[in-house]
Amino acid sequence: MLAIESSCDETAAAIVERTAAGALSVRSNVVASQFELHRRYAGVVPEIASRAHLENILPVVHEALATAQLTLREIDAVAVGVRPGLIGSLLVGVSAAKAIAWSLHKPFFGIDHVEAHLWSGVLESECPALPALGLVVSGGHTSMFTLQASSAPTLLGWTIDDALGEAFDKAAFMLGLSHPGGPNLERLARTGNPEAHAFPFANIGTLNFSFSGLKTAMLYAVRGVPAGRGRTSHFTRSHEDLTEQAKADLAASFQRAAVRAILRRLRDAHALHPYKALFVGGGVVANNTLRHELMAFALERSMELRMPQQAYCVDNAAMIGAAAWMRVLRGEPSDPLTIPAQPVSRLATAAS
Ligand code: KG4
Ligand code: ZN
Repeated sequence: MLAIESSCDETAAAIVERTAAGALSVRSNVVASQFELHRRYAGVVPEIASRAHLENILPVVHEALATAQLTLREIDAVAVGVRPGLIGSLLVGVSAAKAIAWSLHKPFFGIDHVEAHLWSGVLESECPALPALGLVVSGGHTSMFTLQASSAPTLLGWTIDDALGEAFDKAAFMLGLSHPGGPNLERLARTGNPEAHAFPFANIGTLNFSFSGLKTAMLYAVRGVPAGRGRTSHFTRSHEDLTEQAKADLAASFQRAAVRAILRRLRDAHALHPYKALFVGGGVVANNTLRHELMAFALERSMELRMPQQAYCVDNAAMIGAAAWMRVLRGEPSDPLTIPAQPVSRLATAAS
């Protein structure tokens, strides 16, 4: 299967293949990153992203085929992330995938990007024991799901404000770190004391998450509580007034609080439904502190942990192939070429 992903600022293509033993192997996984293009704006600029996708899409598809030593005619199916994402970015990958599927007369799968993150743990391994608990923590989503063998994932809880990756990125920005914030904050946190600041946990009494309070606490810890009110309020200092050690302590304390908030909700979900397996995915799962905590959580409860290697946590196309493969296993048909690219996930809003 040729899989394509272009929902945000990565142009990606992969070839995934079912092995004789029933596992899903990744024959190639190519990602063209746009970090450098967006760095000076401290975030992704949609118009720049879609133009870069246009330049990258065909070279990336060709490289995925070449690495897998295949020609286009040897492909059996085409899958692409159709939602959620930046619409101009999505349209590039979706149009390319539709054109390839149409010209080859091959089945076409339009995949939800959030579901793809959820299933990234099936890559390079055999099919999982279900039902399982699922967690997606990315730049745009922070949600927990029940994963079943016979139907699409069902939503258990979601963030009522910021996504975890978004909170990491904003905390990094407050500390004067460059884009992409999450990995840079993790690097700085290595030399910091995670006990230095007792950041708050938003206890909203459900399986939902909230990170805006943590973000504000971080802002005040970096810049001081603003003097004055409303339009006249102003900060008394900036990150430039802090020592490197003070910044590292803030980064480590923020990271600890953010990871604890995720683990707290996983414990709550497991207490309600004692799942036997845990699937995790999304860019923030590349964070080593979170990875260690997830491993300890699963070990303590004898849960099978499906945590993708770091390359499959951040946006990639192999995970799109994984989600398409799970749809095939569920007996779902392929999609018509008329399905549109959409900015919003149906999965992550199903219960709201
Ligand atoms: O899944 P992803 O690549 O894109 C979305 O679907 O959003 O996730 C990107 C997010 C960004 O917010 C990025 O800062 C965060 O994942 N991220 C990290 C780390 N690596 C990526 N956050 C914390 N620590 C990391 N090592
Ligand atoms: Zn993503």
